[in-house]
Amino acid sequence: MAQISPDMTISSVVERWPDAARIFARYGLSCASCSISKSETIMAGATGHGGGRVKVEDLMRDLNAYADSGKLPDNLPAANATAGAAGMKMRGMAEQKGIKHVIAVMSGKGGVGKSLVAGLLAVGLKRRGFRVGVLDGDITGPSIPRMFGVREKPVSSDGKTLNPPKSRGGIPIMSMNLLLPEEGEAVIWRGPMVSGAIRQFFSDVQWGELDYLIVDLPPGTSDAPLTVMQALPVDGVVLVTTPQALAAMVVTKAVKLVKQLGGDILGIVENMAYVRIPDGSTIEVFGPSQGLKLVIASNAPLIAKIPIDPEIARLADAGLIESYESPESEELIVNFLERAPEKHPQVPVA
Ligand SMILES: Nc1ncnc2c1ncn2[C@@H]1O[C@H](COP(=O)(O)OP(=O)(O)OP(=O)(O)O)[C@@H](O)[C@H]1O
Ligand SMILES: [Mg+2]
Repeated sequence: MAQISPDMTISSVVERWPDAARIFARYGLSCASCSISKSETIMAGATGHGGGRVKVEDLMRDLNAYADSGKLPDNLPAANATAGAAGMKMRGMAEQKGIKHVIAVMSGKGGVGKSLVAGLLAVGLKRRGFRVGVLDGDITGPSIPRMFGVREKPVSSDGKTLNPPKSRGGIPIMSMNLLLPEEGEAVIWRGPMVSGAIRQFFSDVQWGELDYLIVDLPPGTSDAPLTVMQALPVDGVVLVTTPQALAAMVVTKAVKLVKQLGGDILGIVENMAYVRIPDGSTIEVFGPSQGLKLVIASNAPLIAKIPIDPEIARLADAGLIESYESPESEELIVNFLERAPEKHPQVPVA
């Protein structure tokens, strides 16, 4: 007799047969980045997600063959290409911890201002009264703590969890860099270690209740950002690019990756888009905006065009990013909130 029926919840099946997550993922029901809730049944998931194209009979046949024989069907995506049970567990944990939304900031290539955009998002949301934390997912780089001027080490009061240090403005920040004896020390990590560390940054850190946990991902569209994305219950992704980065191509690759993981691209930020000169005119140093191409490639809106601004570089280097204000960074927040997974009432900052 079939052990699994369509009215069982996806999470109960994954709990009992963890590798069933890989079968669900094959049918477009991966759990980390989409919003499959703990109470969703297989039937509801199959009809609600995957555009209604999920063949329930085929899914049930594969699930039951696995439950009966303990053998997974052939040609499943690799375990690390699916969010799987771990992702679902993390989603439950996010709810438990009171973290409403996990937003990842990603780019196709390095040095385009990803960390800066992660910082500006956190600062702008905090200014509007949202509860925000920043998780530095780029475990080899010191950008986030440096930009916020945070050097304090996280401390543990119970020997199990860590209290993250806070920025001047009260934003909790967790970064591998804060745990190293010396800033700038080289860290060589293998994939599973990275996943483990990032999960712990999420699960074992006392973030407190947060509206948004902003995650700065490592550069690229290969293993490094993928590993971090899979380790966390990411709700939405902000893609950062620059006009010269052969933007459309790089963005297309990033878009593919996010989609593969079942994620939602909230918007694109074009950084270093132009320079404003004292007479009020602008120069597009890196060539004309790729805005339209990006929107077409990603099917997501351009939520900000940020100029090259010496003040950004100066404040970021001095650990004072929280003092930065500009109409463009304001626009970033307004547009972000318009696209954000769930709108919150705007509470005035105390
Ligand atoms: N719009 C800007 N105006 C001036 N300086 C900028 C701007 N955006 C970023 N920078 C500076 O450029 C450098 C690279 O930015 P950032 O570290 O944010 O890039 P990244 O994409 O996170 O890089 P990585 O790939 O190494 O993680 C930093 O020194 C930052 O202060
Ligand atoms: Mg960075």
